[in-house]
Amino acid sequence: MRRFHSYGPVDCERHFCVPRRDLVEACARHLVDDPEKGGHSFTVWAPRQTGKTWLACEVEKEIQARYPDRFRVATMSMQSLVMEEEPEAAFLRQASFLFERFLGIEVEAFSSWSQWLGMFLRDRGFFDRPLVLFMDEFDILPPRVIDRLVSLFRDLYLNRQGTVLHGLALVGVSAVLGVASERGSPFNVQRSLRVPNFTREEVEDLFDQYRRESGQIVEPSVVEAVHDASRGWCAGSGSCSPRSTIPAGGRPSARELGRPSTARR
Ligand SMILES: Nc1ncnc2c1ncn2[C@@H]1O[C@H](COP(=O)(O)OP(=O)(O)O)[C@@H](O)[C@H]1O
Ligand SMILES: [Mg+2]
Repeated sequence: MRRFHSYGPVDCERHFCVPRRDLVEACARHLVDDPEKGGHSFTVWAPRQTGKTWLACEVEKEIQARYPDRFRVATMSMQSLVMEEEPEAAFLRQASFLFERFLGIEVEAFSSWSQWLGMFLRDRGFFDRPLVLFMDEFDILPPRVIDRLVSLFRDLYLNRQGTVLHGLALVGVSAVLGVASERGSPFNVQRSLRVPNFTREEVEDLFDQYRRESGQIVEPSVVEAVHDASRGWCAGSGSCSPRSTIPAGGRPSARELGRPSTARR
């Protein structure tokens, strides 16, 4: 039997999982747009534990299935970076490691921003096909680094013929992520994609999956109570699981479920 999972992205083969096909397709469509001419740069945002990293994994699979061998699709997470004083220098020192870890490309440590930019230039030959890139946990980077990266991505966007970067999604918890740059931004606010909380149908779907696999009866009123109390933010579907959320015979409290408005990473 699969189980509820609440730490990191779910794996639909091992965990109860809602497919969110419309969301996955919308994100893949924005990123690829015109497979010949180029896709879009945009932000993907939502509070923590709403499925952003899961979405990136699913979109990777979706694009690879739809366009086999046509794009290089990857997610680079900023989570492991250690930002000390001099954040720009610290980012650059660790940036080559990002390419090694998430794209399997070994390069010397960078000492300038032009070396970072150079990774995305077609004539440098690091990629043999157009790149669709997610930068996850983007907004944990210091503002100066965000500003610099956004500005460089804008440069790539405006000179598209020379770049391998086909589509870019900056993923984070902040709605304004990337668009506050003083130097302007390629990130069209219209194209920022919000990952919504689970709908009532999605919460029902999770419980249906659990009912089918466990044989346990879960009253519809319980499902409704979970949805109403959590407003679909299930702090991961782990908190939507019958065992973890339903105190004996009762309705889960807001405190037990966590509330998006008070959630902080
Ligand atoms: N499609 C989904 N189906 C079921 N649960 C999900 C789904 N997407 C996210 N979750 C729940 O949210 C949790 C966090 O997912 P994750 O992708 O790490 O979120 P984020 O990156 O937004 O913090 C998962 O452990 C799971 O409990
Ligand atoms: Mg995440």
